[in-house]
Amino acid sequence: MMCSLWRGFSLPLTTSLNRRFLKCCRQLSRSYNIESCIPEAVAFQGVSDHSGLYKFSVNESDRFWGAVARQRLSWISPFHTVQNCDFSQGKIKWFEGGKLNVSVNCLDRHVHTSPERVALIWERDEPGTEVKITYRQLLELTCRLGNLLKRQGVRRGDCVTIYMPPCPLAVASMLACARIGAAHNVVFAGFSSEALADRIRDAQSSTVITVNQGVRGGKVVDLKRTVDQAVQNCPSVQQVLVAMRTENTVAMTDRDVPLEEEMMKEDVVCEPVAMDSEDVLFLLYTSGSTGKPKGLVHTQAGYLLYTALTHRYVFNYHDRDVFGCVADIGWITGHSYIVYGPLCNGGTTVLFESTPVYPNPGRYWEMVERLGINQFYGAPTAIRLLLKYGDEWVQNYNRSSLKTLGSVGEPINTEAWEWYHRVVGDGRCPVVDTWWQTETGGICIAPRPSDPEAEIVPGMAMRPFYGIKPALLDTEVGGALSHSSNDSTGALCISQAWPGMARTIHNHHQRFTETYFQPYPGYFFTGDGAYRSKEGYYQIVGRLDDVINVSGHRLGTAELEDVVVCVYVFVVLKKAVMVQEDVLAQQLREMVSRSIAKYACPDFIQVVRCLPKTRSGKIMRRVLRKVVERNTDELGDLSTLDDPDSVHEVIRGHQRLR
Ligand code: PRX
Repeated sequence: MMCSLWRGFSLPLTTSLNRRFLKCCRQLSRSYNIESCIPEAVAFQGVSDHSGLYKFSVNESDRFWGAVARQRLSWISPFHTVQNCDFSQGKIKWFEGGKLNVSVNCLDRHVHTSPERVALIWERDEPGTEVKITYRQLLELTCRLGNLLKRQGVRRGDCVTIYMPPCPLAVASMLACARIGAAHNVVFAGFSSEALADRIRDAQSSTVITVNQGVRGGKVVDLKRTVDQAVQNCPSVQQVLVAMRTENTVAMTDRDVPLEEEMMKEDVVCEPVAMDSEDVLFLLYTSGSTGKPKGLVHTQAGYLLYTALTHRYVFNYHDRDVFGCVADIGWITGHSYIVYGPLCNGGTTVLFESTPVYPNPGRYWEMVERLGINQFYGAPTAIRLLLKYGDEWVQNYNRSSLKTLGSVGEPINTEAWEWYHRVVGDGRCPVVDTWWQTETGGICIAPRPSDPEAEIVPGMAMRPFYGIKPALLDTEVGGALSHSSNDSTGALCISQAWPGMARTIHNHHQRFTETYFQPYPGYFFTGDGAYRSKEGYYQIVGRLDDVINVSGHRLGTAELEDVVVCVYVFVVLKKAVMVQEDVLAQQLREMVSRSIAKYACPDFIQVVRCLPKTRSGKIMRRVLRKVVERNTDELGDLSTLDDPDSVHEVIRGHQRLR
């Protein structure tokens, strides 16, 4: 029974059972039409074009968000106040007075209108073994799990930790928490046992949900063993629910509960709890530039509304499209654009279990062809990796289903952007470079949030989404001068609240206000720097806090570069390129002096096989900096490092160079 659940989800879906929950859904749902959203919602306000709508959304924020929230979400009882926010206290509240259930919005109302529509396509590690789950099946899984969690003593307000790779039971676990009023804390299933333990302890979870083993890139990973190690140091944990991803048995203790076996004993109807708009939906831990990871808190209504709206408009998602976001559910991208945004919109969303190069570098595009993916959303780091393998891996597959290509997580360099557009998208799909953060909940700056025909400049995130009012502030300490003109650079801030933003840091509200609202009073500070072009388009320059704290003082790169005029370049070559290092160094110096200036020439050029990156693909610049400073004893926390060998190789190469 266990395996059939994973293979084909052959649950006993009988008509009599369904009649019961359909009745329950009917009471909760209203008719819903994805196409009718924004223009209709504000038509009565006399706004007809897209740029007018953006202005309306920031100038008449209450009227805009109020109208959209009433139209897009199914409420159990209506809200009385659209927003109640005060940045000086870090107070963010949306849709107060309103009650709703997020799982009803993501499941029941779609089951009511199209129960057999596919909600999830689980793209398992082995190509061609995908599993499709309809809205009806996902609701049943969610209800059974919700009932099981209740039986295990999970109550409204508790926080359940989920340590699972992307799979339908992980999504059902998230939605089951939402259904019964518990918060979830999804921890990326690549994190070590210490990192997991830190997060379980901070969230004070009594329940952990995991799988026996994960399968990724043809390798089996013992996830349950990692959980066993982690919970040894987590006194709050009373039970671990274990799903069986593989057929290999694992040692079970008294604390462990066989998930499939127990959920099959549960009823397929689970009464959804009426949640307040501002009750916690989930915690998600993210690293700060210093200190322990922060458990950012997102709440119910505002987050759901914002992810649904951005999913619809940034990607130009239409009813019946297949949305393929290849992130992991353990990151905010997975939460917002695999789970909540697409499901709230009644969409079909892909859960990608594998890697971009398994079994070969054509994996993404073979999947696009096989599943008929219409919107593909990935990270520049993967695009750069695939680019190195050449165009044939892409051209071997039919990509005519693709309509929009998305990018997220870091700036996309021109070469990668151009390749993504020209080769992957055959020059006909817009590339949307989406800027946002765990803190923002959803996409804030993207090329086409309001106009499917708008101009796109390569490498630029371009335009703010509805309701987002960016500001560039002077980065000088205490300066806080706003650059209101175009063609300027500054600290990227957002000057008014939007529904998707994080509400606090779990148990550390003071850290929340200090990090995000005190650096520039009156603004939400993103931690990134940005440039606004003459035309008013935004380009993200990178983290401002990528810089250093020396004896308690913050130093900007500009200040440092005034003193230490030294540029150190790490180069990763395409796979097939064979070149002598000194010849390459000479060529690169010539290129830089030609395209920038002589003074910008790198002092040191080191060729490396790969750069030290986090598992989410961010280059660990601080590690590189320490290597260059010869401070290899102080590399700091490497627990999020993807490939530990990369650091040793960089160190060895550096020693050779000096
Ligand atoms: O520096 C920005 C970078 O990623 C940071 C947020 O990281 P995280 O919370 O892990 O969320 C990643 C997925 C949303 C930002 O502060 N970043 C994200 N998207 C872009 C980006 N930098 C440049 N361009 C982007 N499109």
